[in-house]
Amino acid sequence: MSSFPLTRMRRMRRTSQLRALVAETQLVVQDLVAPLFVREGLESLVEIPSLPGVFQHSISSLLEEIQYLVSLGVNAVTLFGIPAEKDGQGSCAWEQDGVIQVATKAIKDNFGDQVVVITDLCLDEYISHGHCGILDNHGQVDNDATLEVYKKIAQTQAQAGSDIIAPSGMMDGQVLAIRKGLDEVGFSNLPILAYSAKYASSLYGPFRDAVNVEVQGGGDRKGYQQDYKNSKEAMIEIELDIQEGADMVMVKPALAYLDIISKASHRFDVPVAAYHVSGEYAMIKAAAERGWIDGLAVTLEHLGAIKRAGASFILTYSASEVAEALGE
Ligand code: PBG
Repeated sequence: MSSFPLTRMRRMRRTSQLRALVAETQLVVQDLVAPLFVREGLESLVEIPSLPGVFQHSISSLLEEIQYLVSLGVNAVTLFGIPAEKDGQGSCAWEQDGVIQVATKAIKDNFGDQVVVITDLCLDEYISHGHCGILDNHGQVDNDATLEVYKKIAQTQAQAGSDIIAPSGMMDGQVLAIRKGLDEVGFSNLPILAYSAKYASSLYGPFRDAVNVEVQGGGDRKGYQQDYKNSKEAMIEIELDIQEGADMVMVKPALAYLDIISKASHRFDVPVAAYHVSGEYAMIKAAAERGWIDGLAVTLEHLGAIKRAGASFILTYSASEVAEALGE
């Protein structure tokens, strides 16, 4: 017998059933969005060395992967395209038969409304210098010129059958430009998920391997992505995107930015998504491979914490692994 009264919490921790009864948050399979990479001209899938278990897909391996995800109950994917050729304008990003457009159409032809296709809208995967926008004569990202291009990309992604357009380039005014572009071609019912609070993070390294992107001259994106020292600007960015017409907003990365997710979800009445990014996934995989941590347990803890912070849904490379575990 304890000499002092036990707390209510302690009494409710005794068995896993009691703990489940009073759990404040749940991670469910509907929370998961799987990021998928599709590469033009690929015959069969190629594993990304810094993202074990994640692949650059051909169209047919992409469809197989989605079939597997659907069998686990994961019904949402976010697509990134890797073109066969990159150029200075990123022109393959907006072609009707561009890699992401073709992949989107193939998914829709095969799965219809069963799978929500979120198309990432950015230029870095398509452009030779690796920045998220068009460069001006001084080598700086030209915000306005980039908006014109984003609008064209949104239109062809919509025509290909995208369910949600997700601009990730952090250009000012991108949501408004895309909203107008979509409305002009008859897609006023297509939602926009804005990567509103996107930090200039060192956790995107493996992603850049996945999409074969290197910023020219060893440069970075600190000129347009947010400084991790700040949280107030994230609230302004989100507010502006909502005013411009964003239907959902995203915070990225997730784990080091739980304060931002928490603040945003309290402050704004739109769904707040979180992106558990490539570096977050790779760290778990690397440590688990050495036997230093239990990879699945840490993943569930990460994603559970992201939910607790207030995220409505989570983009995660662990989607299939977690769905398998949740289904057991
Ligand atoms: C930009 C984009 C990036 C990611 C998603 N969209 C990289 C960047 O801004 O450099 C990173 C996602 C991840 O690390 O998993 N198109």
